[in-house]
This record gives sequence, structure tokens and C-alpha cells, in this order.
Amino acid sequence: MIQLTNIQKVYDGTRVQVRALQGVDLTLENGDYVSIRGRSGSGKTTLLNIVGTLDNPTAGEVLYDSVDPFRFSDADLSRFRNRKVGFVFQEFELLPELTVLDNVALVPRIGGANRKEAQRMATAVLERVGMTDRMHHYPSELSGGEKQRVAVARAIVNDPAVVLCDEPTGELDEANVAAVMEILDSLNAAGTTLLVVTHSDEVAEHARRCMYMVDGVLHEAS
Ligand SMILES: Nc1ncnc2c1ncn2[C@@H]1O[C@H](COP(=O)(O)OP(=O)(O)O)[C@@H](O)[C@H]1O
Ligand SMILES: [Mg+2]
Repeated sequence: MIQLTNIQKVYDGTRVQVRALQGVDLTLENGDYVSIRGRSGSGKTTLLNIVGTLDNPTAGEVLYDSVDPFRFSDADLSRFRNRKVGFVFQEFELLPELTVLDNVALVPRIGGANRKEAQRMATAVLERVGMTDRMHHYPSELSGGEKQRVAVARAIVNDPAVVLCDEPTGELDEANVAAVMEILDSLNAAGTTLLVVTHSDEVAEHARRCMYMVDGVLHEAS
């Protein structure tokens, strides 16, 4: 279970302060599928980055099964993130110089798996997202939808506690939106905890719990 309590985030600019999150409470149970809708600038990415421990809150608490990862040293926090959090970004963020297989295998490699074990793990998740026949291709040789399927494989390869998706379909055409959402739905059906932020109503409605964010405040959708 992941529990956020009264999360605040203030960005200190040179002239203005931006209060990007203004007291966010959020609980993610294991196996949840939660979406957060909101306009550009409402604080969605800020929240996702804090849930994913990429950025720390100005105030408030993040707990993973009662553990506060922000108390860890930098090295331990990196290790924690590698094991516990999967990220899927709008722009895929694959490494261009690595093959599909190596992009995915890099995550367990960083986590300490040997090359053979990492490749075995990567092969298994690439099969789950239907990318087995593109394993030895480079990202530049893939369509947007294929790149996002690889990014999803990379996000799940270490069997994380949560997969965080930031506008996962923002760069995709309609057919690829459907294909990627089908994969996310099937991951959740198999037990993966998902938090998806999006400005798309259609994407948001795939979740079992829909929330929305306005000016750094999170609301439950009715
Ligand atoms: N690194 C930053 N420094 C200063 N302000 C930021 C930074 N990142 C985001 N913001 C501001 O915080 C607010 C929320 O941004 P963001 O979380 O990116 O929203 P969203 O993902 O919903 O578009 C916006 O007003 C944005 O300009
Ligand atoms: Mg954003």
C-alpha cells in the first residue's frame, strides 16, 4: 500500500512561488487502478514524480507499506526506486543506442541481476506486451505505439509495487491508444497497481477509480 498524506509542493522561482500541490491525500492499495485527470499545469506530473520518489515534497509524507523512502540515503533511494516503481512517460524515454531487449534488461541489470538473468526477465515481459519479434530492433525502428509497449515492458520488468504513467497516450494515434490501454488494463487485471495521469477522458475512464486535479488539489470524481 502507498499512502500520501497532506502533500505540498512549492516551487521557488526567482520572482514567484508556485504552489503546485496544496495538500494532497492519496491511498493506493495493491492492485488499484487509479486515474487522475487534469488540465495542463494542474500538478499531475509533480504528484507523479513525488509518488515515484523522483522528487521530494515540500511537506507531507509518502509511505510505501509504512516505509518513508525519502529517509533513505541517495543510493538506497535509487535502489528502492529501481525495485518498487515503474515509469511510463508520454515521450517513451527509451535509450536510442540500446536495442529493445537491452533497454528493458537495463532495469534488472541496474538492480543487480546478471546479464543472462536480466535478459531472461526482459524477454518474458516483452512477450507480455507483444514485442517479442522486435526485441533486437532499435527504438528508432519502432512506431510510437511499439515504443510505448517497450516502455511498459521496462516499467514492469522488476515487478514493481506501482506503475506510474504520465500521459502515456499523449503521443499516440487512436489505434495505438487503444492498444496501449489494452495492455495497461491487462496488467492491472493480473495484479499490477497502476496510477495514470492524463488529460484524456477516454483514457481516464479505463481506471477503476477516477480522480481529478484542479490547481494542486485532488478531488474524487463522482
Ligand atoms: N521545476 C519546476 N519549477 C517551477 N515550477 C514548476 C516546475 N515544475 C512544474 N512547475 C509548475 O507547477 C505547476 C504544476 O506543473 P505540473 O505538475 O507539470 O502540471 P501538469 O503535469 O498537470 O501539467 C505548474 O504551474 C508548473 O508551471
Ligand atoms: Mg504533466
